Amino acid sequence: MKESKTSMKELMIDANALEGTITIPGDKSISHRAIMFASIAKGTTKIEGFLHAEDCISTMNIFRDLGVQIDEEADGSVIVHGKGIEGLTAPDHALDAGNSGTTMRLLAGLFSGFPFKIKMIGDESLSKRPMNRVMLPLRQMGASISGSEGSEFAPLYIQPVDHLNAIEYDMPVASAQVKSSILLAGLTAEGTTIIHEKERSRDHTENMLKNFGVELKVDDKDIYLEGGQSLTATDIKVPADISSAAFFIIAALLVKGSKLHMPNVGLNPTRAGIIEVLNKMGANIETYLHEGGLSGDLTVSASDLKATEFGGDIIPALIDEIPIIALAATQAEGRTVIRNAEELKVKETDRIQVTAQELNKMGANIEETEDGMIITGPTPLHAADVDSYGDHRIGMMLQVAALLVKKGTVNLARSEAVNISFPSFFDDLAALSA
Ligand code: S3P
Repeated sequence: MKESKTSMKELMIDANALEGTITIPGDKSISHRAIMFASIAKGTTKIEGFLHAEDCISTMNIFRDLGVQIDEEADGSVIVHGKGIEGLTAPDHALDAGNSGTTMRLLAGLFSGFPFKIKMIGDESLSKRPMNRVMLPLRQMGASISGSEGSEFAPLYIQPVDHLNAIEYDMPVASAQVKSSILLAGLTAEGTTIIHEKERSRDHTENMLKNFGVELKVDDKDIYLEGGQSLTATDIKVPADISSAAFFIIAALLVKGSKLHMPNVGLNPTRAGIIEVLNKMGANIETYLHEGGLSGDLTVSASDLKATEFGGDIIPALIDEIPIIALAATQAEGRTVIRNAEELKVKETDRIQVTAQELNKMGANIEETEDGMIITGPTPLHAADVDSYGDHRIGMMLQVAALLVKKGTVNLARSEAVNISFPSFFDDLAALSA
């Protein structure tokens, strides 16, 4: 039977110890960039470990609409036949970014230097997310980009301009999407684009552009990119997504007697803040770092957690993991305080509000603050009807919460949201506890 668009799912409760090895799907941020950079590079790129989930498929389909041949192999790898930036062709319809902020914001930058018109659309959630954060700096570079009816919201309309000029930009928010958007515009701009970050955000764009042969200088929080450079194809291996692993890490910590092994998880320091926070909470996580330090194997065992406080510089390194860390805090002894996380309000949902509301329905004690949450634990969790509000990370967090419920039924509305980043999530969990 075809699943309905807004499917209600009865979640697994009262889980037995979770044991074994779980292969976490590929990193979403890296998979998006792999398709983008391979498409604008000259030559053929093989991407291993690509995340076959709705968000990255949106990016893949956009480049197909721009005339790039992208083959999906039986073993899951993806072959991109890059044409160079000049080789892309004008689309005859609007390009659909779906639910993906990364797709829309990064490509707004790339498309600003293109010689043809682009209209980019998104789903209901994406059409409510702020785009001025990229449109304002792109306009400073000379781009002609506007939102729907003069607003800052999608659909976005991009008109060709004579040329883009490089800018020096002080980032007002810590955002890898904004940084990457400006860098991608910088590729086709005249002069040296300079970005000063407030706090370091994920650096996948910088690292991967270098792999594709682009010269770019990173000096702590300052980035310099000379315009007019071209990319050369290179093969890419995508590690497992720590943001997806996070749900299994917390599940293993919270479900008594669990021990889970997760091979080859991306542990880039700009992404791995969750491990540092959980270690401070007393989590038993063994990490075996691979050469290069950007990935490693994790073994996580059930642990008694204690509360913690965090904010400031570490926030960008764990921004997407805050809902699931909040769940961990509901089971930790004491008062956990999360600060400086106001960016959560403009994610796929307002993740401060939705996390607090849905977990409090299940018996948690979470107080929303202006820029984060105060969580008092431990609180037992009980059955309730909950809603992902279409947000993949909220949906998966609520399933992990349900594992701790002893009796009753937990129904999750809009459970299909998990397909955005982790289509096999429910099946993988069921297989582990079987
Ligand atoms: C992402 C950057 C982050 C993150 C998002 C993916 C990226 O967003 O929350 O899930 O791939 O660059 P911001 O740049 O808005 O912080």
